[in-house]
Amino acid sequence: MNTQSKQYTPQGPKGSLLSGNLMAYRKDPLQFLTDLQRDYGGAAAIRLGPQKMYVIYDSDLLKELLITKQEHFVKLKAFQEARLFVGDGVATSSGEKHKRVRRLIQPHFTRAHIQTYAGQMADIVDRELHRWKPEQRRSLTDDISNITFAIIAKTLFSLEGDEYARAIREPYETINLMCAERMRVLAAMPLFVPTAKNRAYKAALQSLDRAVYAIIKARRANAEIGEGDLLSVLMAARNDQGEGMTDQELRDELMIMFIAGHETSANALSWAFSYILQQPEVERKLYEEWDRVLQGAPPTAESYMQLTYTQNVLWEAMRLRSPSFFTGRSAVRDVEIGPIQVKRGQSVLFSPYAIHHNPTYFPDPQAFIPERFENDLIKRIPQFAYMPFGGGPRGCIGNHFAMLEMVIALCMIGQRYRLRLTPDHPPIEMEPLMTLRPKNGITVIVDKR
Ligand code: HEM
Repeated sequence: MNTQSKQYTPQGPKGSLLSGNLMAYRKDPLQFLTDLQRDYGGAAAIRLGPQKMYVIYDSDLLKELLITKQEHFVKLKAFQEARLFVGDGVATSSGEKHKRVRRLIQPHFTRAHIQTYAGQMADIVDRELHRWKPEQRRSLTDDISNITFAIIAKTLFSLEGDEYARAIREPYETINLMCAERMRVLAAMPLFVPTAKNRAYKAALQSLDRAVYAIIKARRANAEIGEGDLLSVLMAARNDQGEGMTDQELRDELMIMFIAGHETSANALSWAFSYILQQPEVERKLYEEWDRVLQGAPPTAESYMQLTYTQNVLWEAMRLRSPSFFTGRSAVRDVEIGPIQVKRGQSVLFSPYAIHHNPTYFPDPQAFIPERFENDLIKRIPQFAYMPFGGGPRGCIGNHFAMLEMVIALCMIGQRYRLRLTPDHPPIEMEPLMTLRPKNGITVIVDKR
């Protein structure tokens, strides 16, 4: 696309008079977002109900949205629904508040700092694997979520044990389903209407709140626990007036970390297994790399660097099944993105999932080929042609964290067990909720390696 031309109004599919393209989006959001790129190229205009929005795919436009003009945007208005439970933490807040918290927590997520978590990550995977027994039939997706949740709880908040995990993950499951459903309909039933669904939703929100506030209360009562961890840093922070964060502000930051930090990694890792278990050649190459590099030892921050094929398997899984399958921004003033005139209040979406299926940069886009990431593929293609972690000042803060934990978990599971999909396993389909996950999970038989 010529992004230099003076004016350009992107085109889009004709929708119905009332709901615009909402039905097509609701029916299959992944296909809808992918078809838009195929049919309209770098940018498309759509209408979801009364709201006209743009969906952009072009690298130059993405650069403006996410970097050079990012201060004119806030997180997508449609995510308002999610704010009900995640609140106004670092992933949803804007302006100075966002900058302050992001600056505060950034040191905990640098490449160097993440390395200090490697030992704890490996311990958690080891503990989880001790529960596995040969010939067992297990829900791999649940097991992996347990692992990534326990890793966040321990490394960032010094929490141990299954109790926290249950208290947070169970209500979150209900919320996740309902929130995605509410975001997809034109007008969700207001929460004060006492339908069965609304009641279940509100009860889950309350349970989630109780669990997170209990963590804060326990820490306020005993500040010595977890000295130096992310929670202690959040609690010690003071604003210009010398005031610390309120319980509600802390709750919002914790909630974001729990949710953003465990589900995406769990999905990416589950998708990686879905391909490994169906492509023996990939499995063979992984075993070869683990035997050569690790020689039976658990992976560490140092050996991580040499586990390049393992990393490429994860990059390729996140290309084909980007956990964050779409996101976007809403304009706080009239602004031009390339030649597109975005009006104040209008939203601009982008879909890493669709972008990653562009055959120009990923020939044979549906095929799982980890080797395509060899020889610095990312440096050879335009910025934002591959973007599982988003980009710019609001890109994922946990990208290094996620890669390290996923490599550690993948290696340790594979070093110890040979997994097989259950013989009667249905095809693994995609379920686009808040993130993209395998519908109905993945069930495996565990064999000793
Ligand atoms: C494979 C795993 C992960 C994927 C694919 C992923 C993806 C993303 C993406 C695409 C964004 C940007 C969204 C946007 O631009 O609207 C994001 C933001 C964020 N992620 Fe991740 N993420 C992952 C793991 C993690 C982990 C492990 C953590 C924390 C430990 C984390 C914490 C966050 C936070 C706090 C933000 C908001 C950043 C901000 O707005 O300043 N993520 N993530």
